[in-house]
Amino acid sequence: MKITVVGAGNVGATCADVLAYREIANEIVLVDIKEGLAEGKALDIWQKAPINLYDSRTIGSTNDYSKSAGSDVVVITSGLPRKPGMSRDDLIGTNAGIVKMVTENVVKHSPEAIIIVVSNPLDVMTYQAHLTSKLPRTRVMGMAGILDTARYRAFLAEALNVSPKDIQAMLMGGHGDTMVPLPRYTTVGGIPVTEMIAPDKLNAIIERTKVGGGELVKLMGTSAWYAPGSAAAQMVEAIVKDQRRVLPVCVQLDGEYGIRNCYLGVPVVLGKNGIERVIELDLNAEEKAMLETSRKHVREVMEVLDNLG
Ligand code: NAI
Ligand code: 2OP
Repeated sequence: MKITVVGAGNVGATCADVLAYREIANEIVLVDIKEGLAEGKALDIWQKAPINLYDSRTIGSTNDYSKSAGSDVVVITSGLPRKPGMSRDDLIGTNAGIVKMVTENVVKHSPEAIIIVVSNPLDVMTYQAHLTSKLPRTRVMGMAGILDTARYRAFLAEALNVSPKDIQAMLMGGHGDTMVPLPRYTTVGGIPVTEMIAPDKLNAIIERTKVGGGELVKLMGTSAWYAPGSAAAQMVEAIVKDQRRVLPVCVQLDGEYGIRNCYLGVPVVLGKNGIERVIELDLNAEEKAMLETSRKHVREVMEVLDNLG
């Protein structure tokens, strides 16, 4: 299996490192526009192999996509991260052009690849990759829900003083403050979360999750990378090993949840063909209203992209 990660910055390099360390693929190509950056980070990851005992080969390339040819999965992380005071949507002007150019190169050299977008604003950059690649919706998707759900699960594990391994949760909607955490679909070792935690504490965790990305931007002056890089690697693993994992993934909706022509995070089955199936939950009125708010927000930003041409 051959995986390409475009963007050798914080998220891309972390993703490549997790892919190598966990031997998710035997060939990993890191591409960046900045001279020498991808080569340097790929070499560093490769030189870690004798210490951490893996044999995945990592190579780097400065904008030469021929090295990525024939990739099975491509992760796109290229683009600006947000700085304090910025929303993810503020990145659209710069990142749309970057994602477009990168996607053109990706499909030219790897026409059979499944594309996972990470660049922000996530839902709309996934739309951009879809417009440019013209690939079916099963093969162009975005990573956000796994990260947002991981933040929610980590906060819950901390509050309950239990292992994060035992927190299962689902979260829907756009990757932004309108995301829709779903306490009804959250369990702690199979026990409904509402039986384990007081409503006010749960609400505080949900509110913290919604602004979880911003919390890290305030602390670090740039956005997160360890959890985002690992989340993208988890999606790659589900695809290359045909695991059929049930994960929240940003996908173009085609009538599911009564929504068309919009990119939103929903539960899907992820396997060798990419999106194997979109799972439709029976949402209650409150959850539907929250999803609608999220849909409207993402649609507005999609229209900004349409107007950029
Ligand atoms: P970074 O600045 O560390 O890395 C971005 C890299 O992209 C840089 O190395 C840059 O040289 C490269 N790049 C820029 N234009 C390029 C082009 N045309 N071709 C190839 N490479 C190019 O940023 P970081 O922290 O890695 O974040 C990357 C993106 O991921 C940002 O847009 C950020 O907002 C987004 N992000 C999304 C998350 C999500 O949950 N979907 C989570 C975290 C970050
Ligand atoms: C995050 O949620 C900024 O999207 C990035 O960390």
